[in-house]
Amino acid sequence: MSDITRRDLLVSGLAVSASSLLTPSALARSAASVSAGTGADVATAVPGIEPREQLLFDFGWKFIFGHGTDPAKDLGFGFGQSDFTKTGEFKFSKSGFDDSQWRTLSLPHDWAVELPFIRDDAGSGDNQLRSHGYKPLGRRYPETSVGWYRREFEIPASDLGRRIWVEFDGAFRDVLVFVNGCFVGRNNNGYAPFRFDLTDFLNYGGKNYIVLRVDASFGDGWFYEGAGVYRHVWLTKMDAVHLGKWDSMVRTKVSGSSATLALSTIVVNEGAKDVSARVSWKIIDQQGATVATAQLPAQTIGADGSAPFAASARIANAALWSVETPNLYSAVLTVESEGKTRDAESVTFGIRTAVFDSDKGFFLNGKPLKIQGTCNHQDHAGVGAAVPDRLQSFRLAVLREMGCNAVRTSHNAPTPEWVEACDRMGVMMMCETRQLSSNPEGMQQLEAMIKRYRNSPSIIIWSIGNEEWLLQDAMAEQGAKIAGSMVRRCHELDPTRVASSAINGDNEKGVSEPLDIIGFNYNTQKNPEPFHKKYPKRPVYGSETSSAICTRGEYATDPLRNTVNCYDGVVPWGETPEAWWSFYGTKEWEAGGFAWTGFDYRGEPTPYGWPSINSQFGIVDMCGFPKDYFFYYKAWWRNEPSLHLFPHWNWHGREGDEIPVWVYSNLDEVELFVNGKSLGSQKVPHLGHLEWKVKYESGAIEARGSKDGKVVLTEKRETTGPTTSIRLTADRTEIDANGEDVTIVKVEALDKEGRPVPTANNKIAFSVSGPGKLIGVGNGDPNCHESDKEPRRSLFNGLAQVIVQSTKRPGEIHIEAQKDGWEGPDLTSATLRISAKPAQPRPSVPELRSS
Ligand code: GAL
Repeated sequence: MSDITRRDLLVSGLAVSASSLLTPSALARSAASVSAGTGADVATAVPGIEPREQLLFDFGWKFIFGHGTDPAKDLGFGFGQSDFTKTGEFKFSKSGFDDSQWRTLSLPHDWAVELPFIRDDAGSGDNQLRSHGYKPLGRRYPETSVGWYRREFEIPASDLGRRIWVEFDGAFRDVLVFVNGCFVGRNNNGYAPFRFDLTDFLNYGGKNYIVLRVDASFGDGWFYEGAGVYRHVWLTKMDAVHLGKWDSMVRTKVSGSSATLALSTIVVNEGAKDVSARVSWKIIDQQGATVATAQLPAQTIGADGSAPFAASARIANAALWSVETPNLYSAVLTVESEGKTRDAESVTFGIRTAVFDSDKGFFLNGKPLKIQGTCNHQDHAGVGAAVPDRLQSFRLAVLREMGCNAVRTSHNAPTPEWVEACDRMGVMMMCETRQLSSNPEGMQQLEAMIKRYRNSPSIIIWSIGNEEWLLQDAMAEQGAKIAGSMVRRCHELDPTRVASSAINGDNEKGVSEPLDIIGFNYNTQKNPEPFHKKYPKRPVYGSETSSAICTRGEYATDPLRNTVNCYDGVVPWGETPEAWWSFYGTKEWEAGGFAWTGFDYRGEPTPYGWPSINSQFGIVDMCGFPKDYFFYYKAWWRNEPSLHLFPHWNWHGREGDEIPVWVYSNLDEVELFVNGKSLGSQKVPHLGHLEWKVKYESGAIEARGSKDGKVVLTEKRETTGPTTSIRLTADRTEIDANGEDVTIVKVEALDKEGRPVPTANNKIAFSVSGPGKLIGVGNGDPNCHESDKEPRRSLFNGLAQVIVQSTKRPGEIHIEAQKDGWEGPDLTSATLRISAKPAQPRPSVPELRSS
């Protein structure tokens, strides 16, 4: 929901993917990587060619802007009427086409984040440019809404007879794919994965040309969505006899300490003759040991046919997946026929039970567990929607740090690496599709999401959508039918999980009718309880709550500066963390809920419009720097003693003014000291906070938190001097030289005593030398219009972030930060050394031209 007016009116009336496709040698590597060093070899030795190769198709693309309305500026595409008349005539995807003026880049790529911010408030509601973060995208910006990608690649003659697919994890948004002059297919949404069989169109033993026309003129949502091929692309080569795409499944059933596994898959024969094929399974635990196997008798599969295979296996002492111990297993499937391995893949799965109970809430592995969740969009500072894999884990680690144990992929199917990180790090997921519709597009998006991720133990809820006002009310009859078809499809594809939807408004009719569990968006005090009384058999949870807002490091709500105070900022329809969690965290029948949002995100600038370009709903900012609310959750979502004191103590010029001083803590009592003098001790209210009103004088405030009468934690805020130097701290000082890994660098301002300066806004310039490149900068300021790609950034309230990516060359990367420009006081610069250590890059489609 993007604008307050509409809201007011309405209120008043998720190592690779879960199913990773591996060659035998890669299977060996993957088993070794989960084996903590035992290195068990699970690969079947295959003489000759490997049966399946999954090659990363990310490097060495050329890119140029096309045009949304003028064909002359769009490679002549659509100039006349005959573009699709004959097959093979698209010159731009043939040899001899001159792309020398095109820019070279790597995927994932989001061109929207590279565009300037444009003030344009034309249109209304979600149609305004503000929804998408004031980036010039849409039909009114034809010159920046269409992009062309081009890539040469070679296919060896030895590939003849194999099936070759180009596979996209997702792109924004309407994609046309051309290969060697031929049109091969289209995609019309921004989030679902899609793929095309290129086998017939390729030139074996020579050069090939693939061209993508990506049109971001239409959006899917009301938030920043990026533009371009912002997720990975793969070239997958398979034998004609191969496993069906996302058909391999492991369903687990726990009984006592053991688990039974229902294993199933489909083998496809795209060859010209019948074959006799058999499938075998090996179940490998986290230590690399084979804990179960299953073999099936061979079946005959006709030419152009397919056959289902199903088996079962038992694990005697099952290591369950949980948020504390996210144990994972791999099921390695091998297809053999005519004495040869024809295909193999590894499916990551976990063993766990997840049950929603209408009286007692949610149970993971039989134990009650409150969902301490956050909703998140998928963009990050500096890189927009093109988030490197490693950054996904970084983002999840930030959320885990405050005790978040679940994420909702609002409002679209996630990127595979987000799901993989949740599986690995023990974070549960509500996985949501974009289009709530039973039309072919809506169903295709839903099916792709479920098939792709149904082996992931982290996923506990499939969500068919979010806030479909009409289908909940005026079109409730249709809403119930549409949702009914979608829920039935969810159950068919995955009977092990509940299907739900995030509903704001009427939870009784329309979309809600067929749902397994009922999701409430907002209205915490008004809706869930009466609903629970009326429908005691329907489990309920908070699908979206809070929408608290604050600007990191700001303690006054100031519409002239577009800032929101960090004590209790909240939108009219929202609630502070304290308000919603006091409800969801205490009612036994509530399963818990998902706060809007974990991270700030571009677009939907709330509560202010221009010059704000991103939302202020995040518990952490666009870079992942915590706002004060973060520590409320940390205190009440985690068990460890916790104490957070705010605001900062740099209030020059406000001597004598009363400053509210707050503490978030889960200790028994906290005593506050101002320049050594006690202002008294207060008992911490359960799920609440403490407040003192303090007359400002420079110096220090200190909170001393005690438990059982003993001081266990203290926190101090001191008045600092001006900034004199910069400090750079990397999340990792050693990264892989694989062309993909990143280090995420925190930039801080320090005073001459080395204390962080919480109000600093110095302009900093960065330079990166050695085998690394700067791919983005940010500072978490919702009102900042500086470039995300230039090697410079102002600090915002003392902080900025730089993201540096490795190349494929090992060595030492030097990152330097110094004062930018002539203005302001001198600063001592800082240098950071990152070691890019030798690493095997993932198997990739070789680049023919250097990038
Ligand atoms: C919700 C909506 C979210 C976001 C949020 C802001 O209604 O589902 O996408 O717009 O409001 O509070």
